[in-house]
Amino acid sequence: MVTEVLVGLDCRPGRVYVDGTVGEGGHAAAILNRTAPDGKLWGLDRDPAVLKAAAVRLAPYTSRFRLFHCSYAQLGEILEEAGEPAVAGILLDLGLSLHQLQRSGRGFSFQKDEPLDMRFNPEKPGKTAADILNSATPAALEKIFAEYGEEPRARRITRLVMEARRQHPFRSTQQLVTLVQQAQGPGRRRGERHPATRVFQALRIAVNRELEELALFLGEVPGWLAPGGRLVVISYHSLEDRMVKQKLRAWEQSGLMRRLTRKPLAPSGEEVQRNPRARSAKLRVAEKVGEQSVSKGEMVWPDM
Ligand SMILES: C[S@@+](CC[C@H](N)C(=O)[O-])C[C@H]1O[C@@H](n2cnc3c(N)ncnc32)[C@H](O)[C@@H]1O
Repeated sequence: MVTEVLVGLDCRPGRVYVDGTVGEGGHAAAILNRTAPDGKLWGLDRDPAVLKAAAVRLAPYTSRFRLFHCSYAQLGEILEEAGEPAVAGILLDLGLSLHQLQRSGRGFSFQKDEPLDMRFNPEKPGKTAADILNSATPAALEKIFAEYGEEPRARRITRLVMEARRQHPFRSTQQLVTLVQQAQGPGRRRGERHPATRVFQALRIAVNRELEELALFLGEVPGWLAPGGRLVVISYHSLEDRMVKQKLRAWEQSGLMRRLTRKPLAPSGEEVQRNPRARSAKLRVAEKVGEQSVSKGEMVWPDM
């Protein structure tokens, strides 16, 4: 949803924009192009490996970008250190990058056989997906599968995990895939997602405390935006989208920010065809209220 991001952020030269989930730098490169010749982009990511890829991709923009290895929830510290009181726009494109899924070797994909790690930042000590599967209580596991994965078979999967881990501790993705397939039983309807999709998503969210990070960010972000500054969030999960939607409404009610999307924008059919992972994306935009704020009413989106 690159065009939607550029329009949503109201990208212009001479300003500083933050990509809080820079990944391999796809959106960041588009922002740098749009804000040439002197716009600046600061990219944040928790994953040191994707930051390396971003550095290579963004190298042609030389001094116009900076990369930071940290969570987007720590943006306040970055602004303070840089002596920058506020920025013109902040983007979050939540979820997983293609690199993490396909090349990280950290067990994000149920299509590979890899160690069940799933930490965005493997340099930081913290529980891996295998640690959670091997040590969480049944109640905690069921909650993770049901809430973070919206998995209807959460109880059954939890029971199977408890039985399986007594025999062999979980180590690899394929151990978990086999177990989920067992919970589902034979047969899958046409077009239905792989049965392990929800369980993998749930564990990744739990391992990285993704909802907690988002809550911290949403608690602070209006203070990090200049008047008229824009926030664009792309979420892929109903829990995340609900958190963003509720916060945007609360800010509007208190006169702090204005919603520029009443209903979230979805990717075009053509984009979904090109990139099926985008199918559940929802994009929301808000603007910090202030003297610089020029938009009136809901935003008019160009033909995209
Ligand atoms: C969907 S990808 C972003 C892709 C990027 N927009 C692009 O165009 O290449 C999401 C990225 O967010 C990062 N991420 C997830 N949670 C984060 C957090 N709390 N702070 C910073 N980065 C985070 C992940 O490591 C991943 O690289």
